[in-house]
Amino acid sequence: MKAAYINQTGPPECIIYGDLPTPKLGPDQCLVKIAAVDVNPIDIYVRSGSIPAKLSFPYIIGRDLAGTVIETGAGVKRFKPGDRVWATGQGFAGRQGSFSEFAAADERLLHPIPDGARDEDIVAISLVGITAHLGLVRHAKLQFAEILFVNGGTGGVGSSVVQMAKIIGARVITTAGTDEKVEAARKLGADLAVNYKTQDVDATIKAFAPDGVNVWWETLREPNFERTIPLLAMRGRMIVMAGREARPVFPVGPFYTKDCSVHGFAMFNATAEEQRGAASAINRWMASGKLKAQIDRVLPLSQAALAHRLQEESTIRKTGALTGKIVLKP
Ligand SMILES: NC(=O)c1ccc[n+]([C@@H]2O[C@H](COP(=O)([O-])OP(=O)(O)OC[C@H]3O[C@@H](n4cnc5c(N)ncnc54)[C@H](OP(=O)(O)O)[C@@H]3O)[C@@H](O)[C@H]2O)c1
Repeated sequence: MKAAYINQTGPPECIIYGDLPTPKLGPDQCLVKIAAVDVNPIDIYVRSGSIPAKLSFPYIIGRDLAGTVIETGAGVKRFKPGDRVWATGQGFAGRQGSFSEFAAADERLLHPIPDGARDEDIVAISLVGITAHLGLVRHAKLQFAEILFVNGGTGGVGSSVVQMAKIIGARVITTAGTDEKVEAARKLGADLAVNYKTQDVDATIKAFAPDGVNVWWETLREPNFERTIPLLAMRGRMIVMAGREARPVFPVGPFYTKDCSVHGFAMFNATAEEQRGAASAINRWMASGKLKAQIDRVLPLSQAALAHRLQEESTIRKTGALTGKIVLKP
């Protein structure tokens, strides 16, 4: 089969597009013919070697997939050949990635694709959607009519957070780096979208939320607690989920005297059952049209190295080159 893989960690040019054997099926796995995959920032960290990861070479890159089951292992109960499925969690904990024509995926990590949903849309929501759901529902416990702030309302995570917070019934403030992206964030449902390059974000937040923000979702890799804690409401919750190297100053006094809490999490720690809970909400909202994928572009799988370069420039070097996800099709 064709696959995008690496024989060593390094820059995007390490990615080889070539032939590898079709994976063998374990008893609790489904062989999936892949229709679409996408790029996440974690793929960049793993490929570049900037975070420790257990990789066996040749290592197929990529976490997420959407496709069709063509064969099932003897122990598989929930799926049969012909079923359309999606997953996030390939390429992790010793598993091979998803950037290939076929993947052997653990049944416990697969979710059905709702009728009518396109492969490219569901794959673009997969990892970021589960992340957003876990953060909002499980960790921040966002409530109806609360005010939520999230940076980057058209980014992968941010666009899912904006839409899901609106579905829950919150009032949503977000930011973006161009006027076009500000408009796109409004279209996703944000009540207030601010251009962080040209507007005074903090003054705009204070005017919108004079008593503070109930949930502050930080997508930036350099959280600034000195700035954000004063903007939190009494009993405010802050989500941190990016920036492994970040060591910011933390003003304890203004934090505990407002009964605030900070919640850190990584979606890959969620159990298969927790992921399935989030996935079923995602499927419901996708099917009803309440949740929409934010796709920047669709590329052929052979352009995996270009996709990695673009994602790296946009997320790590902050060029803002992307508005949402890069999807690739074998
Ligand atoms: N813990 C977890 O489980 C988990 C899961 C998924 C992702 N992550 C991490 O979360 C981070 C975001 O991931 P992503 O997929 O959403 O990346 P992304 O699609 O590249 O989005 C990054 C967003 O940050 C915004 N941004 C950049 N600089 C900003 C600034 N100075 N002020 C306000 N907004 C700014 C960008 O806005 P513009 O484009 O408008 O400039 C963009 O919307 C990454 O570090 C990723 O590794 C963690």
